[in-house]
Amino acid sequence: MKLVVVSNRVARGKANEPMTGGLAAALLPVVEKSGAIWVGSSGRVRDGSQKEPFAEIEALGAGALAMLDLPAAHYGGYYEGFANSALWPALHSRTDLIRATQEDYLSYREVNAFMARALLRFAKPDTALWIQDYHFLALGAELRDLGVTRPVGFFLHTPWPARAIIGGVPHHRELVEAMLAYDLIGFQTRDDCENFLSYVQSDLGLGVRDGVVRSRYGTSHIKVFPIGIDPEKFAHQAAKAVSHPDVSRLRRSLNGEKLAIGVDRLDYSKGLINRINAFDLMWTTQPALQRTVSLLQIATPSRGAIEAYGNLQSELAKLVSDVNGRHGEVDWTPIRYLNKGFSQTVLAGLYRTAQVGVVTPLHDGMNLVAKEYVAAQNPADPGVLVLSKFAGAANELDTALLVNPHDIDGMARTIATALSMPLMERRMRWEAMMAKLRAGTIQQWFADFVDALQQTRPDQGAAEPPPEPPVLWPLRSVNSGARYQ
Ligand code: G6P
Repeated sequence: MKLVVVSNRVARGKANEPMTGGLAAALLPVVEKSGAIWVGSSGRVRDGSQKEPFAEIEALGAGALAMLDLPAAHYGGYYEGFANSALWPALHSRTDLIRATQEDYLSYREVNAFMARALLRFAKPDTALWIQDYHFLALGAELRDLGVTRPVGFFLHTPWPARAIIGGVPHHRELVEAMLAYDLIGFQTRDDCENFLSYVQSDLGLGVRDGVVRSRYGTSHIKVFPIGIDPEKFAHQAAKAVSHPDVSRLRRSLNGEKLAIGVDRLDYSKGLINRINAFDLMWTTQPALQRTVSLLQIATPSRGAIEAYGNLQSELAKLVSDVNGRHGEVDWTPIRYLNKGFSQTVLAGLYRTAQVGVVTPLHDGMNLVAKEYVAAQNPADPGVLVLSKFAGAANELDTALLVNPHDIDGMARTIATALSMPLMERRMRWEAMMAKLRAGTIQQWFADFVDALQQTRPDQGAAEPPPEPPVLWPLRSVNSGARYQ
């Protein structure tokens, strides 16, 4: 069975390029190997008068990457509007930040319909489609309306919150009904699955048995697939990256001081303000820790045109400079704060340099940074992960030091505990976490989902030959901006 993977943001197979967000970085190595076609947004827009969607196509490992120009009239309403100012806040339980107009919703639906039309040429008789994330909740329904009967699966990379919170999303009922056009819906955690099923039963009045929902589209299988990383590859990268110039400069600059590290997209779901407040409190209540530890906080900006993100960026910059002003010395900066992205290789080396990894979101689907921090550690002298109990990763990484990100005092104490943890305990906790990472790799996640998707319609594809190099349409030259047929 051939596979088409769809996500809003895609990643190119270039080494040493910064990548924003867990989804694209996580998918890149597995999609590359699988021979799938990965379709997503080019980040550019084009006016709607064109008859055919315009895509730039390039080879990606054994498969290909197709980047579509989305319709100019609807892009803002879709991306900054409904996807990131209605769905994203609601999915992260921030209904107070929902801002969306009827126009935004219509644009969101238009872009989903546009993507469905564009996918038609990839949905050959032996193809399954795997749609990623909240940008495309209604894409499955649009594909069905166009007559696609192939297996279509969906995976949500964010949390799925409680019923009442989803009720805060304009048109929530229509959207969840549309989601039931997917044959398989995957979530990061059991809680997400249960919240979704509870909504479907109570708000849509549909029957659910053994995780299978019956709707007018047929049946949808609802399952948990916790996303992972490639821990061995990451560990190898981290060990090698120690000699990278950025990493060795960081080490030299520490002068024997310990380092805590936080790496996040600049997003209100990440709990950045609470984290800085916890460090501030720790240095205030335990002054002996001043000068002995600093925090390297990388906060990569994204979605800057949205007011909530602009406000957070200003608030955070002010808070960091305030904390540095109060605790800093002529030769010591408590928080090194960077608003830029780094490549996976450099990040791996930075994680390995830090004795403590702080991953303290208020609510997060999985948070792959937590897994990467663990995989990057030196087995002989591993660092300690301080992890929010509201990150999906906390279900697996239960030997991390788990914290409540709303409890600033508790976080401050836990960070101090992490800094003084004896080697034996660090190793025991780290080994238990590594065992979990090895048991749930990204390769396993990908294979499990695709297997389960294929089984939803076993009549369509079971007897098909194994994947072959996917030349499903004439590939034009890389970066040529070729229009595909
Ligand atoms: C999260 C979402 C992804 C998204 C990424 C980056 O990880 O789940 O779908 O691509 O953030 O966000 P951006 O809006 O910059 O693509």
